[in-house]
Amino acid sequence: MRIKNVCIIGGSGFVGQHIAHLLYAQGIKVRILTRRRENAKSLFVLPTIEVVETNIHDPRELSQSLVGIDAVINLVGILDGDFVLTHVELPRKIVAACVQNDVSRILHVSALHASTDGTSAYLRSKGEGEKIIIESNLEMTIFRPSVIFGPGDSFLNLFANLIKRLPVLPLGSPNAKFQPVFIGDIAEVIIASLSISATFGQSYDLCGPKIYSLRQIVEYVSNITKHKLSIIGLNDWLSYLQAACLEILPGKLMTRDNYLSMKTDSICHCKNENNLMKKFGIQPTELEEVAPQYLAPNTPRDRYIGFRDRAGR
Ligand SMILES: NC(=O)c1ccc[n+]([C@@H]2O[C@H](COP(=O)([O-])OP(=O)(O)OC[C@H]3O[C@@H](n4cnc5c(N)ncnc54)[C@H](OP(=O)(O)O)[C@@H]3O)[C@@H](O)[C@H]2O)c1
Repeated sequence: MRIKNVCIIGGSGFVGQHIAHLLYAQGIKVRILTRRRENAKSLFVLPTIEVVETNIHDPRELSQSLVGIDAVINLVGILDGDFVLTHVELPRKIVAACVQNDVSRILHVSALHASTDGTSAYLRSKGEGEKIIIESNLEMTIFRPSVIFGPGDSFLNLFANLIKRLPVLPLGSPNAKFQPVFIGDIAEVIIASLSISATFGQSYDLCGPKIYSLRQIVEYVSNITKHKLSIIGLNDWLSYLQAACLEILPGKLMTRDNYLSMKTDSICHCKNENNLMKKFGIQPTELEEVAPQYLAPNTPRDRYIGFRDRAGR
């Protein structure tokens, strides 16, 4: 079946907006469901993208939003909050709404190493959500990415913003490993999978080409943003304590559950034959190819500061 109408649930976010732009470029109509229309305002200008404000947790509203849709992409995810409601109950409601509307195709974005016996509530709830999707009778595909980078990401940008303000960073879990994957590659594989029946019933781990420790990533961000930084790597006990303190501060930069998630290295162990990017002929993009384009200082003022730094003034 040729897919002409796609509904993206959680489509106002980082991954959703990239996917929506690519679908738009391919002439596929997109309906974005959001709790607040303003969240997707950068998409308003694209005529075949419809942004619908709705309560996706309400089964009736959710079902009505899927009328006329050929495929659903679920991107709703949180790092803190009600994991059961968001990662378990919602997929259950989405499956029911798909069945009610004869939508047979569902693409679901989970997380690398999501598992019902994962190290954190986040990973366990993502694992429960995957189970619901797998046990549905839908033509499903699950994507399990490591941390995703690209313009607008919240991972590298978070550190870039912290580094601007702090000359010294006490870094929790400095040896946790990540295999960052580029948003452009993620969006491309998800869209390429839409109507490929060989991806039905499959789950794919998605990783970039290189493994880094958290410390290496922060050092790299400090280098490209040209902000000098001393990193103090915290031991396990202090990392936990730091997460417990940050959890109660406004902004919640980190939680104890995030700390527990980092107990599992976010790296792929996939063999080549399971590598979806290879199947689609996509060469995974390196962090170093892309990150400088959106993190390196580039305003006239930034360039001036760079000149002063280099001149030692
Ligand atoms: N970014 C990464 O590095 C990364 C890595 C691994 C896995 N993932 C997974 O990939 C998916 C997309 O990630 P992303 O980076 O695009 O996330 P994001 O930018 O935070 O966007 C998530 C979307 O979920 C919706 N949402 C959040 N909380 C919700 C709630 N309680 N109820 C209903 N909707 C809610 C938001 O929509 P509204 O607020 O507009 O309603 C938002 O558009 C998520 O499932 C995430 O867990 C991401």
